[in-house]
Amino acid sequence: MSKTGSRILGAGSALPKRVLTNAELAAQIDTSDEWIVERTGIRQRHIAGEGETTSTLATEAALAALDDAGLKPEDIGLIIVATATPDNTFPATATKVQHALGCNGGVAFDVAAVCSGFLYAMTTADSLLTTGTAKRALVIGAETFSRILDWEDRTTCVLFGDGAGAIVLEAPDASNPAGSASAENSAANGGPGVIASRLHADGANHDLLYVDGGPSTTQTVGHLRMKGREVFRHAVVNLANVLGEVIEDAGISADDIDWVVPHQANARILDATARKLGISADKVIVTVDKHANTSAASVPLAFDVARRDGRIKPGDLVMFEAMGGGFTWGASLVRM
Ligand code: ACO
Repeated sequence: MSKTGSRILGAGSALPKRVLTNAELAAQIDTSDEWIVERTGIRQRHIAGEGETTSTLATEAALAALDDAGLKPEDIGLIIVATATPDNTFPATATKVQHALGCNGGVAFDVAAVCSGFLYAMTTADSLLTTGTAKRALVIGAETFSRILDWEDRTTCVLFGDGAGAIVLEAPDASNPAGSASAENSAANGGPGVIASRLHADGANHDLLYVDGGPSTTQTVGHLRMKGREVFRHAVVNLANVLGEVIEDAGISADDIDWVVPHQANARILDATARKLGISADKVIVTVDKHANTSAASVPLAFDVARRDGRIKPGDLVMFEAMGGGFTWGASLVRM
């Protein structure tokens, strides 16, 4: 849990040019647009082409977020990239993004928590900003899951897409070195910033959602494997629990939340989780129809869409939440 108040100054996102529709998939494997839409809500996904990698998408999203915040790369002292599909096994994709932006010298590393990666990265950045590691951070979720899919496995390949989303986070006292005004205008007192965050992991469920390769086991990249029905069951329970924890930590009720920005895995998980919490479906940002599941990129991508189309506004109370392989899951409540 944290009550630290790092503020979101801007957001940006990037999607590969190529759009792959359900109808195109149905021409290649034994599936149909009807099955995919009914079971998942997905209608299309973006797929990275030649020259598009996790780091190029992350850099494009980061530049858009910096532009949105009115900042330059040199204003950034910390870059965290949440990804399960790095450009290389090492070094961290974050260091490639840092170099591409031209702000070398600060802190840069990756976080591997799969679909919850953005929540893990944002909470880590919030902690590091609060303890003075940097004044401003780029927190990026970026993925090219198309490159770890088994395109002959219809139970998984229809579900995922590629993309990146980024936010700029600022330490609570960054614009006010003396710190005198920050207490009066802190997130806990109704000002903008992170109010409460919770993260969890349970390694017992590794085999329900994993990649069947890796440098230390098979010396290959491997392919994504998932027991979808069981993942679905765990997702609804874990997400409802962690949302309840953050609501309690923040001392609010579910009705106080203006927007939920969830991990976009499946429209039915979004509906079931909202129902369990008694949150109206109108308050849930949904982009799974256009982007499919972009793993760590899905939360910041959805956030950027809803900010740019004017739904999420300054002063709004926004709940971010995600669950992914590991299992890992988490939620974070932020005043805009
Ligand atoms: N097209 C047509 N039929 C299909 C397809 C497909 N693409 N995929 C599976 N089927 C068939 C199955 O073979 C099965 O056929 P059978 O009854 O003859 O055996 C039938 O459809 C039903 O399969 P189920 O797996 O039981 O279908 P379900 O209703 O559970 O939907 C789905 C599957 C969409 C994967 C669902 O379980 C789900 O969304 N689970 C959660 C997955 C998820 O959210 N993962 C991400 C969370 S973590 C992360 O993001 C990395």
